[in-house]
Amino acid sequence: MISYILGIESSCDETAAAVVRNGKIPLSNIVSSQVDIHSKYGGVVPEIASRKHIESIIPVVNEALEQAGVSTESIDAVAVTQGPGLVGSLMVGFSAAKAIAYSLNRPLVYVDHLEAHITAAHLENDISFPFIALIVSGGHTNLYYVSGYTEFELIGKTRDDAAGEAFDKAAKILGLGYPGGIEIDRLSRSGDPGKIKFPRPFLDKKNFDFSYSGLKTSLLYYIKDNPESIEKEIEDICASYQEAIVDTLIAKTLSAANKYNVKNIVVSGGVACNSRLREFSIEIFTKRGMNIYIPSPKFCTDNAAMISALGYFRLESGERAAMDKGTYSTARG
Ligand code: KG4
Ligand code: ZN
Repeated sequence: MISYILGIESSCDETAAAVVRNGKIPLSNIVSSQVDIHSKYGGVVPEIASRKHIESIIPVVNEALEQAGVSTESIDAVAVTQGPGLVGSLMVGFSAAKAIAYSLNRPLVYVDHLEAHITAAHLENDISFPFIALIVSGGHTNLYYVSGYTEFELIGKTRDDAAGEAFDKAAKILGLGYPGGIEIDRLSRSGDPGKIKFPRPFLDKKNFDFSYSGLKTSLLYYIKDNPESIEKEIEDICASYQEAIVDTLIAKTLSAANKYNVKNIVVSGGVACNSRLREFSIEIFTKRGMNIYIPSPKFCTDNAAMISALGYFRLESGERAAMDKGTYSTARG
């Protein structure tokens, strides 16, 4: 019987390992972040990220086993992120996972990073199917119709920038450092979200796609036309910009829930740490009698517990990875 899954995640700038029992009980969740290294470059430098993953992967796996209180031999299977992500970074986790599975003679399973962000919601809640999942990360903004633990149908996505990218690029324009989402979130708390009227792109469209590059451009023009505003009203700029992102995310998720006649909603991914998105989605969906599930921040940002969890459900459905398969994706997770 497969019960204890070691999960490994290295798609971007976090080296992570975790042990999860039966897909739902996290026994450990170790994340080694490289954010301090990359912040001085204003973004993730892929070559540096791969090298840091090589240094961290074994200590992080050992720490995950230790924190879980399990021996290497008690691991029943290994799950690893196959993509999307930076190819050099993915290769490190991939190679480690393969080597561990091979040496222990245990099954290996490959997991999609974005689908795993959805599965993260099962780590803290029992959620009945079907549900609509909004995944908002640094590289993706996707809406899914989810009908089972391994049944994900992509129903909408961003046509250009992701929501996290919109936060990070705005922070750069405003001189707030990297990654910018957290800083914009913090400054927004003392700002007026109705002060500046930023556009809400694609709300007039009937599909479930998003677009954020125009929003970023309108911020750029606003700053160009009002250069003194960064000094005078940074909190109002942040709050108004954040509100435009959050409004469109929630409006599209709500219209998907209505169209598919679904009562359960999941919001996950790094941007789901945003306090306004959390607060506003709880307000909007509960008011309509819907159930909203947003994982704790440690399960929203990149982590390996979500990889172990989805790995478990994929193994349960009979999937096994071939040892000779390579990694494939190059887009950021
Ligand atoms: O899912 P994630 O940890 O990594 C990727 O797979 O990309 O997401 C990272 C993204 C970054 O763009 C970061 O700025 C954003 O999540 N983020 C936030 C907040 N915390 C992290 N965005 C807005 N508000 C936050 N509090
Ligand atoms: Zn992610």
